[in-house]
Amino acid sequence: MLEAKNITKRFGGLVALNNVTLTVRKGELLGLIGPNGSGKTTMFNVITGYYRPEGGRVYYNGQDITGLRPHKIVKMGIARTFQIPKPFGRLTVVENVMSAAMYGREEVPSRGEAKEIAMEWLEYVRLKDKVNVEAKSLNIVERKLMELARAFSTDPRLLLLDELVAGLNPSEMMEVVELVRRLVDEKGITTVMVEHVMKAVMTISDRVFVLHRGTKLAEGKPEEIARDPKVVEAYILETGRIALHGEAKKLLGMEEVKKAYLGI
Ligand SMILES: Nc1ncnc2c1ncn2[C@@H]1O[C@H](COP(=O)(O)OP(=O)(O)OP(=O)(O)O)[C@@H](O)[C@H]1O
Ligand SMILES: [Mg+2]
Repeated sequence: MLEAKNITKRFGGLVALNNVTLTVRKGELLGLIGPNGSGKTTMFNVITGYYRPEGGRVYYNGQDITGLRPHKIVKMGIARTFQIPKPFGRLTVVENVMSAAMYGREEVPSRGEAKEIAMEWLEYVRLKDKVNVEAKSLNIVERKLMELARAFSTDPRLLLLDELVAGLNPSEMMEVVELVRRLVDEKGITTVMVEHVMKAVMTISDRVFVLHRGTKLAEGKPEEIARDPKVVEAYILETGRIALHGEAKKLLGMEEVKKAYLGI
């Protein structure tokens, strides 16, 4: 469905993506993981037209969409959420979702129709009793759910979620990722989910793609990825909170390291 082929993206001297090929298959939920700064958000920005890559092409259903403007790409059916959401705080929840619906894949001729679409999605994400409150008064979970409703209301065929569950506690997190899984299954929307929290990705993804310092480190089924020493190593080396050196690692063993630091 989507192929980002041999993508290279530089910022000055920094190579954020170095010849990365990412393929997304129709109907799947693909987890895109990698330590901080590994290029995940940059990949989304290249796919959705926010950045033009220095190298490589993006193909969507066989069509070359490299460098098209973001609003054109939304019209083609690719929706995204942002790592740092920017809701219209003074607008109500339903107005926020309507504003997304009106700029979606299909032309929505009237406010009334946009409202219908918005209400349908707000009900789906269980925010129906919040529709008329100002977005800024939502709590963090509700904000995430509103972001999800905004993305879905553009009627996407491909959905890119950038750290949707960041900042949530473990039970809130599982609630939101399970909702995503359900939406993907019931609505058949192909989804790529960027998450830091391995557990969230590992439990719901069909396939996982791992970026590390701008290159592809591994790709495969969640259980293969969780067992891959390259992946575990990369996380241990990159996550600053883990000061674990060679000797300690040998003592602990991979299974304990994974459990202690990755929660898997
Ligand atoms: N607009 C930009 N200008 C300059 N450098 C950038 C820009 N966007 C990203 N970078 C750099 O590119 C690299 C990849 O960043 P990116 O945001 O894609 O990482 P990420 O995997 O999404 O990280 P995180 O998990 O922290 O969100 C980082 O070194 C980052 O500092
Ligand atoms: Mg990011």
